Order: sequence, then C-alpha cells, then structure tokens
Amino acid sequence: MKTSLTTLARRGALGLAFTALAASMAAAQTPGKLKVGLMLPYTGTFASLGTAIENGFRQHVAELGGKIAGREVEYFKVDDESDPSKATDNVNKLIKRDQVDVLVGSVHSGVAMAMAKAAKESGTLLIVPNAGADAVTGAMCAPNIYRSSFSNWQPGYAMGEVMAKKGIKKVVTITWKYAAGDETVRGFKESFEKGGGTVVKELSLPFPNVEFQGLLTEIAAAKPDAVFTFFAGGGAVKFVKDYAAAGLKKTVPLYASGFLTDGTLEAQGADADGLFTALHYADSLDTKRDNSFRLNYAKTYKLQPDVYAVQGYDAAQILSIGLNATKGDATKSADFSAALAKATIDSPRGAFTLSKAHNPVQDFYLRQVGAKENKKVGIASAKLEDPARGCKL
Ligand code: BEZ
Repeated sequence: MKTSLTTLARRGALGLAFTALAASMAAAQTPGKLKVGLMLPYTGTFASLGTAIENGFRQHVAELGGKIAGREVEYFKVDDESDPSKATDNVNKLIKRDQVDVLVGSVHSGVAMAMAKAAKESGTLLIVPNAGADAVTGAMCAPNIYRSSFSNWQPGYAMGEVMAKKGIKKVVTITWKYAAGDETVRGFKESFEKGGGTVVKELSLPFPNVEFQGLLTEIAAAKPDAVFTFFAGGGAVKFVKDYAAAGLKKTVPLYASGFLTDGTLEAQGADADGLFTALHYADSLDTKRDNSFRLNYAKTYKLQPDVYAVQGYDAAQILSIGLNATKGDATKSADFSAALAKATIDSPRGAFTLSKAHNPVQDFYLRQVGAKENKKVGIASAKLEDPARGCKL
C-alpha cells in the first residue's frame, strides 16, 4: 500500500507534537530552582543581624546539599535598610519582579508588617526569621505566614516574671518607640504587674536614634529599683556603654530582653558584664545539637553564631519540612501547614513546636553576661506560647 506524501507529513507533525507535549509534562513534574527572596537589613544599625540570618539560612541549605525538597536553591536579595517606608516597594521587587517562591524576612518589626501584608495579598509563602511584631502571628496570621523567631511579647513577658519573682517593685522602662519596643514593654508589664511590680515611667526615643543622655538623666532622677529595656544591634552597643558611663550600672540594675547583649558583646566589652537578660537562645547551652551547629558556623563564617544565626537556620528548617510535604510546591499552604503542625523543629536553641498561629512555642532562658558570653543561668519561662491575640486560624 502506498502512503501519500501528505499522510507522511501529517504523521511527522503529530510526532513532533507528542514530543513537545511529553517535554512540557516532564517540565511540569520537575519544578525548576526554588527561588528564595531574602529581604534583610544589610546596612544600618541592624546590618550584622541580617548577615547572621542569611549565614544561618545558608548553613542549613548547605547541610541539605544545596537543595530543598529536590529543588536547587537560588537566592534573590534586597537590602531593606530597616526602613518601613521602603518596605512595600522592596517586597514587591521580590514578589513581582523576581517572582520568588518564598520570602524570608525581616529583622525590623515595621518592615515585617509590610511583608506580611504583601504575603497575605499575594499568597506568597513568608517565613519571618527575626522581627517580633505581635500582629504577624496575631491579627495578621495566615496559612502562608510563619515565624522561626519569637513574638515581641515573649521575651518581655519572660523577663517580667523573673523580675517580679526577685521582688523588684519599681521599674523604669526605656526603648525605641516602634512596634518592637512598645510590644516588648507591654509583654513585660503584663507579667511584672501581675507579679506585684509597678512600671513607674516608660521612656522612649525614635528608632534608630541613640541620643540616650537626657533619658539616662531622667532614670537617675526617678531612682527606680531597676530598669528594663529593649534595644538591639548597634543601638544596644551604645546604650550599654552609655548606661555604664553615666554611672547607672552601679546604682540601678539593668535587665533586658536578650537582644541587648546578643551579637554585641565584643563591642560592649566589660560594660555588659553581669547583665541579666531573657531570650530563646544562649551561648552556653552545651547540647550535642548546639555544639555541632556552633562548630560548623564558626568553621564556615569565621564568626561565633548568635540568636539571629539560629533563627535563620531554623527558617530554612521550617521551609524544608513544609516543602518536603508539598513535594516542593510553595503554593500548597494547607499541606505545608499540616506538616508543620505535626513537626518538632530540631533547633540549636532546643527543640520547639509551632503554635496554631505559626509562632515558636519555646523555652526562654535566663542568661547572665560573663567572659563575653550570654551564659544560661536558668529558665525564665518554659514552653512559653504567645497568646496570638486576634489570630483566627
Ligand atoms: C524587631 O524590630 O522586631 C526586632 C529587631 C531587632 C531585634 C529584635 C526584634
């Protein structure tokens, strides 16, 4: 039987179409690189915090062989400058221009709020590796929003319990006037006043100002039993040095959320010695898990890790647990969150779980500074869970 030229041409075209279809089906089954958008501060008072978070994140990805759920990780970076007024434009560069699969950021609570709003509106997966803004896992909570760090309420509440138990009665608070400062102080007041203490004065200055002199004079005049504070990064270094230089360290004991002395001890020197703080990490945990994390971090980055590095590392752990359950698909938020609801995260800080609102339920250590380390001296608050006020998950 003869086959006409037209029939042959038709068969050839059909063959090509089949090949193209098979190739496109294979491409759909093998998603490409996993695009991770790091939105962190790389300049300004929180610059070193952003770098530590990125280092920690990359450390865990390297342990996984550079892939998460079978997808090679590709990074897209934006310096958010800890500036909330630029945050919406910055996050849209990652969502719209770079079309990332997941956002990881940021350090500053005001920046993180803008990221959470954009993540909610676009449905992009967001993992917050530091910023404590209560609303992120409170009123703004969502199936696609996670936190590997803490809520601002948590360290404040933990230290309020400790100070009330010590019998301290009259406290002055001092912090930056923005969500992190306000909410840390609110958490502190909640437990401290429940325990019988009184906050006699609440002092603040705008972020990221470091002109503390006038406020230190007010503290000296108020003669409280103690001071409670939240500062972090470069501002924390200056505050601790100014507090000592004003002669207050000898007369009014200073207590703080642990960010005051984390990643800052080299620069603070002896002025930080003896300070008590509460945080979900310490330098002297001496567990097998933490020791190996610290050794690998020090070998890779020639730096000692801090709480920010741990939070970055755990952001990558959360991402990997969730994406393993969705076969690498970052849009399947129901399966992603079901996996994390059952998970225990094997963190260098100690194992923790996530609350319904996706915030860590974790121990807060009481730490004291000595020999340039935040040494664990007790548990300030065990398995502390943020109240997630306003969350409807
Ligand atoms: C915050 O803005 O939420 C924050 C910044 C630095 C350390 C801790 C919290």
